[in-house]
Amino acid sequence: MNRDALLGELNEFLRIPSVSTLSAHNDDCRAAANWVAAELRRLGCDGVQLLGSETHPVVWGRGPEVPGAPTLVIYGHYDVQPPDPLAEWTTPPFEPTVRDGRLYARGAADDKGQVFCLLKAMEAAGKPAVNFRFLIEGQEEHGSQVLFDLLKREPQRVAADAVLVADMSYVAPGWPAVYTTLRGLCYAEITVRTSKTDLHSGEYGGAAPNAHEELCRLLTRIKSDNGQINIPGFYGPVKRPSKAELAAWKKLPFKEKDFLEKRVQGKGLVGLKKYSVLERLWALPTFEIHGILGGFTGEGAKTVIPAAATAKVSMRLVPNQKLKTVERQLAAAVKRFAPKHVTASVHFLHGADPAQIKLTDSSFQKLDEAFKAVLGRGTVPARAGGSIPVVPALASAGAPVILTGIGLPDDRLHAPNEKLDLKQLWDGIEIFRRFYRLLGDSGARAPSS
Ligand code: BES
Ligand code: MN
Ligand code: MN
Repeated sequence: MNRDALLGELNEFLRIPSVSTLSAHNDDCRAAANWVAAELRRLGCDGVQLLGSETHPVVWGRGPEVPGAPTLVIYGHYDVQPPDPLAEWTTPPFEPTVRDGRLYARGAADDKGQVFCLLKAMEAAGKPAVNFRFLIEGQEEHGSQVLFDLLKREPQRVAADAVLVADMSYVAPGWPAVYTTLRGLCYAEITVRTSKTDLHSGEYGGAAPNAHEELCRLLTRIKSDNGQINIPGFYGPVKRPSKAELAAWKKLPFKEKDFLEKRVQGKGLVGLKKYSVLERLWALPTFEIHGILGGFTGEGAKTVIPAAATAKVSMRLVPNQKLKTVERQLAAAVKRFAPKHVTASVHFLHGADPAQIKLTDSSFQKLDEAFKAVLGRGTVPARAGGSIPVVPALASAGAPVILTGIGLPDDRLHAPNEKLDLKQLWDGIEIFRRFYRLLGDSGARAPSS
């Protein structure tokens, strides 16, 4: 395939600003869905449809029917995160640009570039004996409600021999991975109110409560300086990785010092010091503050005691924590930690249960073989710190969910200057081409699919 032509096509997809978390981009999300649908039709898919929503539809399609062949569901997402802060992009987020063999654009790695890779690999594979099914959604970055509802109504859409999710990265250049867990997520707003309206800080200061101060105190009660989260019951279901798993992580090309200096680019790491950094990132839950609203943040100085303050927070959840339980635990903790003179409330925005995947199915060996053939190294098992809300639902019909991807750890997902190394894309097309063929050569295993 002609690489310049492929790059031109991918750029078209990347130029659509399909930000699912901002309603001003609803039409762009629809346009990205249409782009995917047109591509599926071009690849010879039948019954291509936009399902479940006018603005953020799931794109569904079926590849050419091959009687008796295994069924592979391909999952991905065409939506992206907001691109701000815009000033920090070297070239604009929706004007894809190649520099030094890297393609810079919002969505280059997460996940448009990877969806593109899986589609072009299908084209490159000729006609493998695989029954392809596509579920490409447009709300992954916003909780996946449309796809959740679709799969609840029509669970047979994920009845398959395997589900392929390429929305992750290698653990290091040259080290492809297959993931055994994803963290879940519980996203909430915590609001504290201390008086009916804002008050003059001279007239009232010293005696009236301050909403920002109360909110900060509440937040630091929830999580202490050492990284410990004090929500009662929170750590209860959390299991430590096995000794074998921890030993395997030690052999990965991951250095805590490099992580700090090259990736975090900060002055020091935080968190529960008695656990390794990988364990903190992959196997322990978190509590993060994303932003604090309220009070005076305008130009100049205004002497006011704010009456209300809201923090946007989220918790990453690990096996075997449950979203519903954690929601109750957070609400109870906020009630318990807030002093009598404040009104504190919690509003939940979205969330996801954590996912756990066993690598026993033979399709994992085929993926390993495909990576090995192209890179000289097969997949290493790893865990992921991020979340893909719908993964437990993708697994609900019993198909193994293959979590992998062609990104690299320094792709800057959700951040300015997101990129995809073009070598990763070209290798990726060849890797998944081989994977589809290996899967096709093996024949069907699930008689009902
Ligand atoms: N592709 C990521 C998930 C991911 C990132 C997995 C890094 C493994 C490593 C996905 O697009 C994502 O960002 N998900 C959100 C989900 C949330 C908004 C519900 C996340 O993890 O924040
Ligand atoms: Mn993604
Ligand atoms: Mn993402």
